[in-house]
Amino acid sequence: MFADRTNCNLKSNRLSEALAKHRAANRPLLDLTVSNPTECGFVYDRGSILQSLANPDSLSYHPDPKGLLTARQAVAEYYSAHDIVIPVEDIIPATSTSEAYSFVFRILCNPVDEVLIPEPSYPLFSFLADIHDVKLVSYPLLYDHGWQIDFHALQQSLTPRTRGIIVVNPNNPTGHFCKANEMEKLHEICSSHQIAIIADEVFLDFHLEAKQPPSFAANNTILTFTMSGLSKIAGLPQMKAAWLVTTGPKELKAQALSRLEVIADTFLSMNTPIQLAIPRFLELRYGFQNQLMARVRKNLATLDAQLATQSSCSRLEVEGGWYAVLRVPVTRSDEDLAIELLNTRGISVHPGHFYDFPTDGYLIVSLITPAEEFDEGVKRLLSVF
Ligand SMILES: Cc1ncc(COP(=O)(O)O)c(C=O)c1O
Repeated sequence: MFADRTNCNLKSNRLSEALAKHRAANRPLLDLTVSNPTECGFVYDRGSILQSLANPDSLSYHPDPKGLLTARQAVAEYYSAHDIVIPVEDIIPATSTSEAYSFVFRILCNPVDEVLIPEPSYPLFSFLADIHDVKLVSYPLLYDHGWQIDFHALQQSLTPRTRGIIVVNPNNPTGHFCKANEMEKLHEICSSHQIAIIADEVFLDFHLEAKQPPSFAANNTILTFTMSGLSKIAGLPQMKAAWLVTTGPKELKAQALSRLEVIADTFLSMNTPIQLAIPRFLELRYGFQNQLMARVRKNLATLDAQLATQSSCSRLEVEGGWYAVLRVPVTRSDEDLAIELLNTRGISVHPGHFYDFPTDGYLIVSLITPAEEFDEGVKRLLSVF
């Protein structure tokens, strides 16, 4: 009775089964995979957040496929804080970055057209691609004293069916920011193959270097879709508010925007109270981001101090984002290691294969874990080697 596109593999894996058992038995757990900022002990301006949801203008409905002007103006201001001028007409709000991906896949891809994704990266894409009949083809990120795009492999992955290249800037979980020379190379490739860039910048503001790395939203040379939202930028995933910025050559951009508008108009998925609150939520981002980056720096310092006391494990370079990748001895599969850490040390970590690392030998830990738990969790993790 059902369409093939929902024939997803929903079988639980051994690690998630072990985790469910651990929780059902009420055994204590130090969770080093936390990614929900509302559960990590950050202090939010509760009064201001709740007050922003009580705007009397929420009592009337003015549907607009491109969303409320005040919300789009606030997003344009977000980009002007990054020294990028984005006209409000080029911004379309969405309920999540995932929904923004959906819009872009819909306007670019016929069934079984292809989109390139980085590997390793966040395990969201396969479901999104399946339900939109898009075929994903991965291109590797290489690690050599820092991450970089393997352009040779990327070019070999292009086919006449390729419609776009996804770049996660910075990538989750590697924390790799796309450098100016990599951006230039991507532009050349996309321009010569007439394909688009799809840039996921949900972690853009979380960088360890003082200087803000560049955003794809400044790109006008090829058709580029840049997406971000409040779930990471302002630490408010529960508000379900994101956006899609379209940039590029004038004619192509106009065509893309009018197609996107049809999709947005069909669903009109943004609700009024949240759109009215977006300007205030974006203003509040600085307080959240300062706390988050202080946590990331503290946890990285803790991690480095503990790594310095042993020689079995090391960490890969982190440029930004909320995660650290640990290089660990390959004495068993990463999944077996994660299960052992759960059963014998009571800690939860992600094995590298969860993010499509091509080999064993990698564990991923969240740098937004509350500091004391992180300290104890890393101690227990290293004690297994
Ligand atoms: C790289 C990346 N993109 C998108 C998302 C999802 O963002 P949203 O909550 O806006 O759908 C996540 C969530 O962790 C992510 O890591």
